[in-house]
Amino acid sequence: MWQAERELATLSLAALKPAERRFGNRCFFSIFTFVRVLVLTGAGVSAESGIPTFRGKDGYWRNFDPSKLATPEAFARDPQLVWEWYRERRQRIRNARPNPAHEAVARLAQRTNEFLLVTQNVDDLHARAGIPAEKMVQIHGDIFVTRCSGCDFERRDYEHEYEQEQEHVIPRCSKCDALTRPGVVWFGEQLPWNELQRVENYLDRGASDLVIIAGTTATFGYIVDWALWSSRDGGELIEVNPEETPLSRFATRLLREPAAVALPRIVDELTNWGVAL
Ligand code: APR
Repeated sequence: MWQAERELATLSLAALKPAERRFGNRCFFSIFTFVRVLVLTGAGVSAESGIPTFRGKDGYWRNFDPSKLATPEAFARDPQLVWEWYRERRQRIRNARPNPAHEAVARLAQRTNEFLLVTQNVDDLHARAGIPAEKMVQIHGDIFVTRCSGCDFERRDYEHEYEQEQEHVIPRCSKCDALTRPGVVWFGEQLPWNELQRVENYLDRGASDLVIIAGTTATFGYIVDWALWSSRDGGELIEVNPEETPLSRFATRLLREPAAVALPRIVDELTNWGVAL
């Protein structure tokens, strides 16, 4: 108990400093009103829901060659093979459930005015855990979206896809009859413009008091940049990951634990502290 309290004190005070500077000591009562939060997640957050990571021990890229499955060239070469892989992943995600890490992030989002989750995950577990769409950016797309490879047509309807998937049909665009593809970002492709704008607008509106980075190898530079830029003003940068990442040396707090254990505890500490007073 003492350990948790000391951690709580250190965590909240550090997270509060910028807010305290802006609002004097009135912030004790409604910490979530003044705290600005950014959460960045990766495949590790869905690992405890049974979704393999990419570069972890049984990660997808240990068993499959990404250049054969997750590039526009791979799709042009063998769309059937690519669709079969994404359909297998869609089915695995349909059978999965959000875990306590997803639920903790959703609780924090619901309690914090200024909040944004940027996830690299294309699964829908954050959404199913109840995070409001306006507080989440899926920067690598959504696996349940089907988009035309020729025109701008796209749709996201769960059931329709399910039927076609049973028939192993490669869905064609109902507008231009071109092949359709999963609505995810493949290697070598640009990030979705609108989603990128949403991230940058959030970052431009001010530094965050609390940045949580969970379950990612932070392989992509933009993830590192967003975490560091957002915590630039003395904000807390918490890394939740059993392993070291390029961001570890910048973190103000390292939690080398599974996300489903560490994230609920962090949010409980913040929530209890806010409410108790
Ligand atoms: N809790 C927290 N972290 C975990 C857990 C867990 N239970 N299990 C694994 N991890 C960590 C691993 O230590 C690793 O650092 O999650 C990370 C998973 O890293 P990757 O497999 O590289 O996944 P991610 O960082 O999301 O990959 C980024 O790369 O392949 C592309 O587009 C794909 O979005 C993906 C992107």
